[in-house]
Amino acid sequence: MSESKASKNKELLWQSRFSEPFDEEALKFSSSVEVDWQLYKDDIQGSIAHVTMLGEEGIISEEEATQIIAGLQDIEQEFDNGKIDLDWRLEDIHTVIENRLKEKIGDVAGKVHSGRSRNDQVATDTRLYLHRTISDLKSALNDLNQTLYNRAESHQDVIMFGYTHLQRAQPILISHYYLAYLEMFLRDIERLDDLYKRVNRSALGAAAFAGSSLPLNINRTASLLGFESPFRNSTDAISDRDIIIEFISACSIIMMHLSRFAEDVILWSSEEFKYLQLSDSFSTGSSIMPQKKNADIAELVRGKTGRVYGDLMNILTIMKGLPLSYNRDMQEDKPPLFDAAKSTLDSVRIFNRLIQNTTINRERLKALTEKDMSLATEIAEYLVEKNIPFRDAHRITGKIVTYALEHQTSLPDMSLDVYKTFSSVIESDIYAALTPESSVNRKKSQGSTSPASVKQQLAWHKAKLSQS
Ligand code: ARG
Repeated sequence: MSESKASKNKELLWQSRFSEPFDEEALKFSSSVEVDWQLYKDDIQGSIAHVTMLGEEGIISEEEATQIIAGLQDIEQEFDNGKIDLDWRLEDIHTVIENRLKEKIGDVAGKVHSGRSRNDQVATDTRLYLHRTISDLKSALNDLNQTLYNRAESHQDVIMFGYTHLQRAQPILISHYYLAYLEMFLRDIERLDDLYKRVNRSALGAAAFAGSSLPLNINRTASLLGFESPFRNSTDAISDRDIIIEFISACSIIMMHLSRFAEDVILWSSEEFKYLQLSDSFSTGSSIMPQKKNADIAELVRGKTGRVYGDLMNILTIMKGLPLSYNRDMQEDKPPLFDAAKSTLDSVRIFNRLIQNTTINRERLKALTEKDMSLATEIAEYLVEKNIPFRDAHRITGKIVTYALEHQTSLPDMSLDVYKTFSSVIESDIYAALTPESSVNRKKSQGSTSPASVKQQLAWHKAKLSQS
């Protein structure tokens, strides 16, 4: 055995069946330590629960259980302090931990693996990892929603253009815009809550996939780990990765929402729009064009969205066509899982700070919205109020807009005589409708952009945010 093949004399867990050591390059190719070390806390937590149960059930003695648990707790400390040698030759994080346990407490360490397999371990670790990651992501989304609420609350007097097809459509309160995103992120939180119901199962005791002849108490390990219950079917417990797919799908939707929001920030901070200003601390410059102030953070959030979509396609493709039950392909689930989790969490957190670091150009929005053609819907609705069928009202208003454009005037600047040439029902009260303020004030339908409706929405969100 060469020095490198001897793996510093550490034996792989399955080595005894083979007379030749595993090929060095094949081992390097199959090792996941570089990636799955991130599960060390979850793996140790799972092992402690399993050993506690083994001791309680008399599968190992209480003393052995105590000794193993103390060893595992020490190892967690060593990890926390960066004192563990992450030797890739040990194949994966489960083996790194078991090997270290053996170095610390001797052969009794081998009892930790009674009635379990790395298949159960990795499935349970992933569920524990998802538990804490979902909770971090939810709290980051809540923080973002609090910022959006604060913005909506403090900008109730600001009117801007609402767009469809990126064409000015109708004036809306900017608060209404912020609250629209708040709703989307709220659904993202609900989606995480919902998928957590399916994460909430322990896989410990599946014993590779068929169950064990040892009297394992899988309800006990599940409850020690804070899961609602264990699996019902041991083969299902270790075979599927649908919860990872669901989680990355939820991340993809969060990123899609962030990316659309980021796109608005990028557009609105441009010289062409100039609706908002990024603080210097959240802008980048150009190495050649000294005047540049770029929205790189928003662009990177938009860019990372593609990365997370890629992670989703990655895991979906890995799982497609795998025969039941475990296959080593499934080890490749962790890079997309960790990447999607980190990219999404980082993006939500930085985006929250980005929004806090923007200032709305109130004066510019006021000047731009004042006499804009986006008031045209007001004329159409005014005519409807005067009993004109909407189709006709729309046609008449279209002609009024064409007239205004041809005569280079604005809707509020046209005389009543001119208005009357389009429809005799138009009276001088038309002018009261032709301001951005009256446009939003006149909205009566529930959930609209009227100040009263926005106030109602704010009250609802205030109560909701105080519960989270
Ligand atoms: N590193 C492996 C994974 O992530 C752990 C399970 C190994 N199981 C096995 N039968 N080789 O999937």
